[in-house]
Amino acid sequence: MVRTHSQLALLLVVALQVTAQTLTVTNSGVIGTGCQPGTAQASVKNGVVSIEASNFIASAGPGVSYSSGRKNCQATLTVSVPSGYQFGFAETKLPAQVKTDSGVQVSARSEYYFQGELTKDQDTSTVPAGSSGTVTLVNSYGPSAWSSCGGSSIVNINTSLRASNANNRGGSGSIRLKGNLNTEVVWRKC
Ligand SMILES: *[C@@H]1O[C@H](CO)[C@@H](O)[C@H](O)[C@H]1NC(C)=O
Repeated sequence: MVRTHSQLALLLVVALQVTAQTLTVTNSGVIGTGCQPGTAQASVKNGVVSIEASNFIASAGPGVSYSSGRKNCQATLTVSVPSGYQFGFAETKLPAQVKTDSGVQVSARSEYYFQGELTKDQDTSTVPAGSSGTVTLVNSYGPSAWSSCGGSSIVNINTSLRASNANNRGGSGSIRLKGNLNTEVVWRKC
């Protein structure tokens, strides 16, 4: 049977709709040195897990403590998975404000894993030293970590911001989350 382009496009849309499921979250929480209680929250909409954190910043410089250069924020979600499906994540997008002197490096690392599973998916984005302004860093996953097939699954999404002036002790730098940290869900049949 011969199909036109628009018929093929329609078939493709239908196929994707069959696979896309709703992420039903029954419980969620956010914790970490970069998202202290009262400064952060997680929400889910249209297949995207969003973390809002008003004070998620890592900085380095003369007189700045080592711990200021390492901050993390972890969301934990309990998900009711539709039977016959499992989910993972495609990528985490991190809009950030950065400011770094030469020799000062800032980066964002994201990982996710399911409770009780050893497989973790992770990626790190590094901003070139000497940069400043607003950037959107994208950490991409395989994905290789998948939820249970149906049932209840607990997933952790852990993002860390780093700033280091180890290569220029007199230099300063910082990276700050500016907007929502968005992690996109992907589904597959199982
Ligand atoms: C989150 O990631 C950071 C490293 O990037 C790590 O030090 C920390 O232990 C992780 N937290 C959890 C709960 O896995």
